[in-house]
Amino acid sequence: MRKKYIAGNWKMNLNLADAKDLASGLDAEIKNLDGIDNVDIAVCPPFVYLQRIIGTLADSPIKAGAQNVYFEANGAFTGEVSVEMLKDISCPMTLIGHSERRHVMGETDELINKKVHASLAGGIEVILCIGELLEEREGDQTEAVCERQLREGLANVTADQMANITIAYEPVWAIGTGKTATSDQAQEVHAFCRKVLADIYDDSVAQATRIQYGGSVKPANAEELMSNPDVDGVLVGGASLKVSDFTGIIKAGLACG
Ligand code: PGA
Repeated sequence: MRKKYIAGNWKMNLNLADAKDLASGLDAEIKNLDGIDNVDIAVCPPFVYLQRIIGTLADSPIKAGAQNVYFEANGAFTGEVSVEMLKDISCPMTLIGHSERRHVMGETDELINKKVHASLAGGIEVILCIGELLEEREGDQTEAVCERQLREGLANVTADQMANITIAYEPVWAIGTGKTATSDQAQEVHAFCRKVLADIYDDSVAQATRIQYGGSVKPANAEELMSNPDVDGVLVGGASLKVSDFTGIIKAGLACG
């Protein structure tokens, strides 16, 4: 059975003091929960706070990851951060291809695939985000978009490397909008994505790969979403910024685990 994986994406929010309070507050809340080892938990702070939060969570089951990474090792890439730099501060994981990177910053599947390869080569675990825009859903393109983003994002990634990849299905119309996909809509796309993984790799890779749902996840809807057979956790934006909300979502994961 796949272990549930709850990740928080803090995006460009908080200040240093609030980020540290959030990390230590979460750690204090979840430490004593029964069966906490039955879920994986991560938070992704803004880059400037990442090293500090890794320190704050040094003895915690919560890992701190990056929201993004660049594929080149070093050089004239102003504003970018490399895999080596993440390793240097003992950062174990990164998000790649978040919809805001794709649609606000213009990242392509080709660029995302390079970032995936650089991360895996450096031993950094990846959460690869995919998902359709509202007009793509309305135009019946959801499966085509998710399939393309999976095939191109994972191009030349080996079956062995898939052990270090989590997929996050995040319908763009559900991110930060308060409009969550229904539980059935989420399950349907997750099952489809698993079919695509089985086609790219094989059934055992497809069955082993965790697929998170993201988009307006809250304590009130997290359990229903994660009780679906193909929803292996959640990637949470807004509700990951509050200790009580994120803890509620972690409890929902434990209840489904
Ligand atoms: P949201 O963001 O939970 O605020 O909708 C999710 C995400 O962007 O990962």
